[in-house]
Amino acid sequence: MSETAKIIIADQPYEFPVITGTENEKAIDTARLRDLTGYVTYDDGYGNTASCESAITFIDGEQGTLRYRGYDIQDLAVHSNFIESAYLVVYGELPTISQLQNFRHLILRNAAIHQGMFSFFEAFPNNSHPMAILSAMVNSLGCYYPEMASNNREQDLEHLDSAATILLSKVRTLAAMSYRMKYGLPFIHPKPELPYCSNFLHMMFSEPYADYKFNPVVDRALNLILLLHADHEQNCSTSTVRMVASGGANLFASASAGVCALWGPAHGGANMAVIHMLAQIHQDSDDGSRFVAAAKSGDKSKRLMGFGHRVYKNYDPRAKILRKTCADVLNTLGVNDPLLDIALKLEEIATHDEYFHARRLYPNVDFYSGIIMRAIGIPVDMFTVMFAIGRMPGWIAHWRELATGNSPIHRPRQIYTGSPRREFTPIDQR
Ligand code: SDX
Repeated sequence: MSETAKIIIADQPYEFPVITGTENEKAIDTARLRDLTGYVTYDDGYGNTASCESAITFIDGEQGTLRYRGYDIQDLAVHSNFIESAYLVVYGELPTISQLQNFRHLILRNAAIHQGMFSFFEAFPNNSHPMAILSAMVNSLGCYYPEMASNNREQDLEHLDSAATILLSKVRTLAAMSYRMKYGLPFIHPKPELPYCSNFLHMMFSEPYADYKFNPVVDRALNLILLLHADHEQNCSTSTVRMVASGGANLFASASAGVCALWGPAHGGANMAVIHMLAQIHQDSDDGSRFVAAAKSGDKSKRLMGFGHRVYKNYDPRAKILRKTCADVLNTLGVNDPLLDIALKLEEIATHDEYFHARRLYPNVDFYSGIIMRAIGIPVDMFTVMFAIGRMPGWIAHWRELATGNSPIHRPRQIYTGSPRREFTPIDQR
């Protein structure tokens, strides 16, 4: 006997099916609510609304659990790397040796960008934000690969494997180029023999006359940061990708929309905001206690950035992993970053403070990631770009899941609160 939920409206009972997920999550299927009752549900910000069924990622916010296709993030962090996990997130299974070799080959082969794309960088003002550049350049990939961006769902799906590896590979090249452009440095071309993260660091930091000196600890840390960002259920940017894809738009356009959504300080922009916050605390010679006191005021402009989460009401498992990596990377690089000391002090104060405890506010993925990226030499305004590179497998996986499913175009309802009907008044009578 399948479970149902009863809603009583004006003493009239209505029954709706209950959907049960793999981990026993429950949802009331209200697809017929309006037809049957004339009512719609209201849930500002969708905090209690499942917009879809998905087999990609599972989060238990109460337990602090995160799994990609059933594999715990802690296991992937220890045993896997970004490209292998990207394959898992996109295709649903860990790759065999030959599948991984082919995936890697396609990514290596697609690292360079079309010569025509270089001219975009001549036109952007030097002080352009890398996220503005990235969203524009990701969408423009559709101009260079029109056969993969036809907006004909069948045709775009036929080319998905190529489009996915083009996107995964070139997002890294475009990011490095936006950094080089901003600092007036010559572009460094990718080296096909280098693995994903090393190639990125090469394109970012090599000079025409001297290659970047690789450090396996840095490479591993960057792999880990990207892996930990690969997917995260229906967050703001991934839901945006699905929304855009639901209208039939191609992968490049959908991913570009995801980049724009990620940019906000409440979402992917938080990793930049964390460093600005820590630097301000350091500059104010505050040990963190004054800032925490201000953060408890409820003033949104004084929030403890990198703390709190719409889903995790426990420690973000990604923050736990990065907290440990932070110390390893800084020790290996011999970097003594006062911002790490301030971050650890803030965490110590906040996690023992009733205000944060009562609201179940804990460090999230953004709290420590920036300190590692800073130690690697990645500038703060590139932090959200790094988040976008890491999240690309998730956006591709959700585009693919929606494109191969039967979802209709996404079209939420609303409750109108504007003016009742009124007559038009000519301008000389207003
Ligand atoms: C990411 O969704 C995802 O999965 C996102 C992400 C991903 O991988 O895609 O995990 C990545 O976006 C992580 C979150 C990064 N953002 C930040 O670190 C920005 C700082 N955090 C806050 O803005 C906030 O915590 C949110 C936006 C993350 C979550 O906000 P909620 O759950 O909607 O909480 P809320 O705004 O309803 O606040 C609840 C209470 C309020 O106090 P009261 O009105 O009840 O007294 O908690 C307070 C808030 O004032 N609060 C904070 C706080 N966050 C919430 N107070 C101080 N500092 C904070 N950071």
